[in-house]
Amino acid sequence: MLKQEVKITVAHEAPVNHQTQGLVVCIYEGEKPESKMMKALDDAFGGLLSQLMGRGEITGESKEFHILHNLSLPMNKLIVLGMGEREKFSLETIRAAVAKGARTARKLNQSEVSILMEPFDAADAFATGVCAAEGVIMGLDRFEVYKSKKKSDRDILTHVQFLCEASQVEEMEKGVARGVILAKGNTLARDIANHPGNRMTPALMAEEAHKVAQECGLELEILDEPDLIAAGYTGITAVSAGSEENCKMIKITHMGRPESNEIDIAIVGKGLTFDAGGISIKPASGMHMMKYDMCGGAATIGAAYIVGQLKPKVNVRFYVPASENMPDGKAYKPGDILKFKNGKTVEINNTDAEGRLILADALIMACEEGARRIVDAATLTGAVVTCLGHVRTGLFCKDEGLKSLVVGAAKECDEKIWELPLDDEYRVILKSSHADLSNSGGRAAGSTTAAIFLNEFVGNIPFCHLDIAGTAWVENVPTQYSFKPYLPKDGATGTAARTFALTVEHLAETL
Ligand code: BES
Ligand code: MN
Ligand code: ZN
Repeated sequence: MLKQEVKITVAHEAPVNHQTQGLVVCIYEGEKPESKMMKALDDAFGGLLSQLMGRGEITGESKEFHILHNLSLPMNKLIVLGMGEREKFSLETIRAAVAKGARTARKLNQSEVSILMEPFDAADAFATGVCAAEGVIMGLDRFEVYKSKKKSDRDILTHVQFLCEASQVEEMEKGVARGVILAKGNTLARDIANHPGNRMTPALMAEEAHKVAQECGLELEILDEPDLIAAGYTGITAVSAGSEENCKMIKITHMGRPESNEIDIAIVGKGLTFDAGGISIKPASGMHMMKYDMCGGAATIGAAYIVGQLKPKVNVRFYVPASENMPDGKAYKPGDILKFKNGKTVEINNTDAEGRLILADALIMACEEGARRIVDAATLTGAVVTCLGHVRTGLFCKDEGLKSLVVGAAKECDEKIWELPLDDEYRVILKSSHADLSNSGGRAAGSTTAAIFLNEFVGNIPFCHLDIAGTAWVENVPTQYSFKPYLPKDGATGTAARTFALTVEHLAETL
């Protein structure tokens, strides 16, 4: 676990004299090779770059891609990437360009590649290092555990080098160290979530949490199904009743502010390792995708890794309620009424609305343990996919302070989010004749009613809910996803791991 197969280094060297199997150069739309460095490269290639630009064969348009070979030169070849307009440059440009450069070098069977960082000079060296390292690791990551013939057995790329100014080397190296940690948290979340239901059960998820806790020196507590039944956690145990697998409540704790024993923030992630829908069973087509219903939990474990490495001065507890949702003679049934530990009764009118039930128990537990704020991520509703597609995560939060913390964190790692409403007017949809609440309100405003349900279990504690059902994984539809070249072509994205960790880190700065 958590091997860093590719070494990332930072160096200052004139690119014309630089010895490599390939040099990645990024060109903005409509720009000529005018900087000193680019002019020297153009000269080395006998003016090839400027000639191709003159002929309109290289334009710098976004996604444009050329390879210019010259085996008699020290850099062997130029991998030319079009960046689009310079005015649109952001840190995300760096992640995308570096990922594309590293992927290309790997595909070309290079064992190493160098990337010219000059085009990113609008960003400071530290941030450039962070995003470039993220681009390398997230971009090269792939999941082939179950393939007999692995592409990675043939790959030989082991070294990516960033070339920058001498004055930037030190800061960029520091940035790289941070970017590696963030990216590893993200790819760990992907790895956990990519395993199918038979290979990532609640018990195995607990194992993953154990590995992270050990590697980072964090506290770990696992509550098993009998413990949870005995303690009165009726939501997760009802959902798990139809499964042969025991449910688990996974808790990881980082006390970065040991002078206090208060939990400054709780991070919660839905770890539904397979969601068949239960007695309200899902249609067969597409049911297999519900192996991804644990992406929130996977992101939580990924975030624990990042926090465990960065060690911000803040007390944080991570909760992953992990369970299967299966139909069976012992399964919970539509019409059942559950009494939760906080006293609320819930009528089950759809056993497929299970995520909110296991999350409710985690929220109750976080409140019992004194959490001052709570943020959760869950593949909670199909409705959020209808609403926001696969680009933005749905955010629900009544507390302005916590909201701006999460929004800022999400911006920093370019995990796009969009706020959706929580107005009281929607609450009537969850009315039940026989219990305090019903667990599902049907199609209308499905993501909002799910979020309102969760809010019933946090009392007055600031709470932010992220519905990642649309952003947690990508299917093999290249056109839709090519906007982020560091995402997998088909698989879990690891979304929310970095947003969670950065939220925790930003909170530490305010305490
Ligand atoms: N895990 C699903 C939500 C989901 C659907 C995630 C599609 C990703 C893609 C969740 O447990 C669920 O089944 N939600 C129901 C709720 C409904 C019964 C109120 C849904 O969205 O249909
Ligand atoms: Mn469901
Ligand atoms: Zn589910």
